[in-house]
Amino acid sequence: MRSLGRAMAAILPDVITIFLYGELGAGKTTLVRAIIQSFAKKQTVRSPTFTIVEPYEIDHRRIYHFDLYRFVSAEELDFIGAREYFGAGICLVEWPEKGAGFLPPSDLDFQITIKDDTRLIHLRANTRVGEAVLLSSRGVSATRQFRC
Ligand SMILES: Nc1ncnc2c1ncn2[C@@H]1O[C@H](COP(=O)(O)OP(=O)(O)OP(=O)(O)O)[C@@H](O)[C@H]1O
Ligand SMILES: [Mg+2]
Repeated sequence: MRSLGRAMAAILPDVITIFLYGELGAGKTTLVRAIIQSFAKKQTVRSPTFTIVEPYEIDHRRIYHFDLYRFVSAEELDFIGAREYFGAGICLVEWPEKGAGFLPPSDLDFQITIKDDTRLIHLRANTRVGEAVLLSSRGVSATRQFRC
């Protein structure tokens, strides 16, 4: 995950929305942590399961790490001002399916599947922004699939 996180961090634009799909313990937080720590090695990255969103400001970048597992209502997200985060930085969303109807569409999706001790990560682009990241990632994997 660390090397994929580093590869992703190197090619992500400053504004992008990424949805991370995968069952409990698939490695969504682990991948987000790897991306954020590629920007700032010593940055602590906690799972925002209870806070819903954890904002980071690293150099000129704004990064918003969402976990909607305990998502209750759109009002709750409005209350914490989360709606304004989309389009304003790198938004990484765990459990996006729980926010269906509220969330804007994603540029890029990561689907993480558990394979014993390793993880298969499949990338899917939904917009030109996501497609540009996929094109850049070809140097890492030509198949849109990574194993970590
Ligand atoms: N190759 C691997 N990549 C990532 N995690 C791995 C790998 N092998 C084992 N693990 C373990 O799998 C777990 C992944 O946990 P993580 O919190 O990242 O999952 P998650 O998808 O965010 O789960 P949740 O839905 O609960 O938020 C960790 O305990 C990690 O040590
Ligand atoms: Mg998690």
